[in-house]
Amino acid sequence: AGVGVVVVAAGSGQRLGQGIPKARVLCGGRTLLQRSLDAVIASGVATHVVVVLPQDDAVLAAVVSDAARRTGGPAIVAVTGGTTRTASVRAGLDALPPPTAVVLVHDAARALTPPDVFRRVAEAVAAGAPAVIPVLPVVDTVKVVDGDVVTATPDRGGLRAVQTPQGFDAAALRAAHAAGGPADPAVTDDAMLMEAHGATVRVVEGDPLAFKITTPLDLVVAEAVLARDPA
Ligand code: C5P
Repeated sequence: AGVGVVVVAAGSGQRLGQGIPKARVLCGGRTLLQRSLDAVIASGVATHVVVVLPQDDAVLAAVVSDAARRTGGPAIVAVTGGTTRTASVRAGLDALPPPTAVVLVHDAARALTPPDVFRRVAEAVAAGAPAVIPVLPVVDTVKVVDGDVVTATPDRGGLRAVQTPQGFDAAALRAAHAAGGPADPAVTDDAMLMEAHGATVRVVEGDPLAFKITTPLDLVVAEAVLARDPA
């Protein structure tokens, strides 16, 4: 048994434009990684946490060891990630103890994710779903394009925007990663690999606060949220 949480924090943060790995970026005076780990721990769902870091990042390694020292809860370890998100997730899965029954994969960049989202996802997996993702309705109309020409307009009512943590039966996720799927850079989440492997992926309600801090505007929004609602 056991619930493992893999927190992927090995991204470069290029689109944020601060010249440091994104997980090290400060928001309300604390790193995005600190905030993400606090949410994981506060959710109470994890028995093991694996944090996937950029190579030789002493700052982030210190954040992880500090969290490991402070928590009376789950074991927390750090491993080095890869050049794609999928490679980083795989490195995290490899570091989870083999008996882990359920695994949640979470983007460190979703630093304001409420602990309730972790609980909703973990509960749905515990109830028997092999793959569970938190989603929100899509507010914009979305077009399919070929170059600068629109080729289709999918019905917005049938679309959802996808967040993390994504939860899985651990054995099924390991098998899906081993089988591979679309070429690595095209794999933008783990549920895609499960879909390619034939698994049913279920949705639960996401949360606007679980947005991915990607651009400078996202950071402004996150700072404003924290100023309104210090956490
Ligand atoms: O690049 P993207 O926004 O999809 O990244 C989502 C999450 O995956 C981020 O938390 C980032 O740190 C992580 N990531 C990673 N290793 C990579 C690329 C992204 O751990 N090579």
